[in-house]
Amino acid sequence: MITLGIETSCDETAIGVLDDDTVLANVVSSQVAHSKYGGVVPELAARNHIKVIVPLTKIALEIAHLDAKDVDLIAATYGPGLVGALLVGLSFAKSLSISLCKPYIGVNHLEGHVYALHEVRKDMPYPMLVLIVSGGHTEIIRINNEFEYETLGRTLDDACGEAFDKVAKIMGLPYPGGPYIEKHAVQGSQSTVSLPVPRPKPFHFSYAGLKTAVLYYTRENPEYSREDVAAAFQEAALDHLVEVVEYAVVHTRIKNLGIVGGVSANARLREKFSELARRTAITLYIPEILHCTDNGVMIALAGAARFVRFGRSPLCLDAVARESLDTISSVKRRA
Ligand code: KG4
Ligand code: ZN
Repeated sequence: MITLGIETSCDETAIGVLDDDTVLANVVSSQVAHSKYGGVVPELAARNHIKVIVPLTKIALEIAHLDAKDVDLIAATYGPGLVGALLVGLSFAKSLSISLCKPYIGVNHLEGHVYALHEVRKDMPYPMLVLIVSGGHTEIIRINNEFEYETLGRTLDDACGEAFDKVAKIMGLPYPGGPYIEKHAVQGSQSTVSLPVPRPKPFHFSYAGLKTAVLYYTRENPEYSREDVAAAFQEAALDHLVEVVEYAVVHTRIKNLGIVGGVSANARLREKFSELARRTAITLYIPEILHCTDNGVMIALAGAARFVRFGRSPLCLDAVARESLDTISSVKRRA
């Protein structure tokens, strides 16, 4: 089965092509226009998706040595994300579906991130804990079986990637700031600047306090070193992730941990979680860097799996700004 995966939930236009689970193409066009605003401008994102989605799909099909009529299934993200941006990919996918007479399936973006793990290991070992850590989300979920999701906790305020981006902005670094913070942190000292590691309720995350601590520090110390602030911030932000996840590992006694989403591209994060895995004797799964940040392959993987189990989506499926994985779980828990 040839699946075309289309992702437009934020500022990346991304197309993936799969032949069953073999990746034939993975192309991503990142929008640089937002950099000067220090964050994503929703209308600009939608307009940029419109500009590139058709040529990018053509490029992906060319790389895959396929023609549009070879596609068997069209998968596109319908949410959560920026509604205007989502509508571009979703409407394009529906139009393709009608013109090619091929089925279309809508994919939840978070389920897409989770399916990036299937590139690491095809038969995921359930039950699993999965940490989704991106620019829009920071949550820990329990997956009891394929499509059976239970959110254990999430951020009470900013997402982890959002905090990386905001701290980068405070220090005048470009957007998205995560990779720049990582680069500066490598050259800095973690202990020169003292920042508080957040300590919220079990299973929940919080980044607003840490971000504000950086803001105050930089205001009070105008001669600060970007490298040292980046190192101290990154260490505190990642220690917080490890602490909450360790609590979840101990309390659920689940021995398999997946980490997905843009922040999981961070090398220090990978180091810290490898150390946690050794300490707690769990198995760790993190996708290769290419599949951590938003991409079309993860949408194609999730779409194909859902299509095989549940069939196609109705063409009236709407774009949604928010949707937790619990909503689409095949087993619903009583409140
Ligand atoms: O998953 P993603 O591409 O989009 C969302 O679904 O949000 O994640 C993007 C986020 C941004 O906040 C970006 O700064 C962060 O992931 N990010 C990183 C790194 N690479 C991307 N954060 C820290 N270190 C990195 N190397
Ligand atoms: Zn994402």
